[in-house]
Amino acid sequence: MIFPLAVFLLQMGSSRCGLPFYNGFYYDRVMNDKGDTSGEVQFSGVKLMVETSPEAIYTHRGANITLPCHYHYAPKLHVPRKIRVKWSKLREDNTKEQDVLVASGSKHRSFGEFRGRTWLLQASSQEASLVIHDLRLRDSGKYRCEVIDGLEDESGIVDLELQGVVFPFQPHHGRYMLNFHEAKKACEEQDAVIASFGQLFKSWMDGLDWCNAGWLIDGTVQYPITVPREPCGGKDMAPGLRNYGERHKNLHRFDVFCFSSALKGTVYYLTGHQKLTLEEAKQACQDDGAEIAKVGQLYSAWKLVGLDRCDAGWLADGSVRYPITSPRPNCGPPEPGVRSFGFPKVGKFGVYCYKMS
Ligand SMILES: *[C@@H]1O[C@H](CO)[C@@H](O)[C@H](O)[C@H]1NC(C)=O
Repeated sequence: MIFPLAVFLLQMGSSRCGLPFYNGFYYDRVMNDKGDTSGEVQFSGVKLMVETSPEAIYTHRGANITLPCHYHYAPKLHVPRKIRVKWSKLREDNTKEQDVLVASGSKHRSFGEFRGRTWLLQASSQEASLVIHDLRLRDSGKYRCEVIDGLEDESGIVDLELQGVVFPFQPHHGRYMLNFHEAKKACEEQDAVIASFGQLFKSWMDGLDWCNAGWLIDGTVQYPITVPREPCGGKDMAPGLRNYGERHKNLHRFDVFCFSSALKGTVYYLTGHQKLTLEEAKQACQDDGAEIAKVGQLYSAWKLVGLDRCDAGWLADGSVRYPITSPRPNCGPPEPGVRSFGFPKVGKFGVYCYKMS
């Protein structure tokens, strides 16, 4: 993008010498045939270039990371120029970008949930990398590094991905009960966030097969099928994500796909107890200095820590599940997974607790 330069600057410059020259930059004066001096000025000859990481950066919740961004001028400048840097986060639904940080000289300011945990890293003279501490689930996505030099404005994109696990979620009151807003909230209540298309796609590649449609963060409703079958989009369709497209966020109701990443604490099956009701189970975890585990926490422990336990236990949403990484007889199907007993109205079970470490 090219910004107009104040006219007087150029006129001063060009009146003093033949070739307009200012601070290492060449300018062309653009005039129409009538010699109109209305003053559209273009900057040419020197190009500002911004370079970011072409590869996605993979990390996990809780990590401290640097999103690399460097800039330079071509041809090279000998006089350093004052620049401003702006980092923003692209939104999944392509609405307005979210401000992350702006910096000018040694001053910088970060915004919203990025306040207090983002900095600009200027280890070398033409660096404008972004440091983010204590990554949250919502931090994953694409970031724009924008360098503004007053004349030119160039940007590059960095893709930040969290390693984690996608799981389908349906609340205790049944299938297809959540509108988009409720779906988002349901994931958050399970220590997770609503999944992105990229996250669901990656899970499908890893073998996720689920025949109930769920919301994604971009407002579409989809489900992943690895073994095509009649009730799941048809036997003759290729494996893939079945897509219902964008749905009305208030009126339409489905399940949801949630995403979770590494945990700060630990999930464990509480031993040394008789079988419990849900209320007793919550209390038993508290008595152990912990809390009853959320669904996202059990999935995270299963996928990222390899939790394997053939004992059904209560979770915070009122479901009963158990995590299997090494499938064996009497512990569910031959594939690894988190097995679910649904939401039992009667009966006693064990419990999975979550303790902060
Ligand atoms: C991130 O940085 C902070 C401050 O330097 C430090 O206290 C914390 O331990 C770091 N976290 C990780 C996961 O390295």
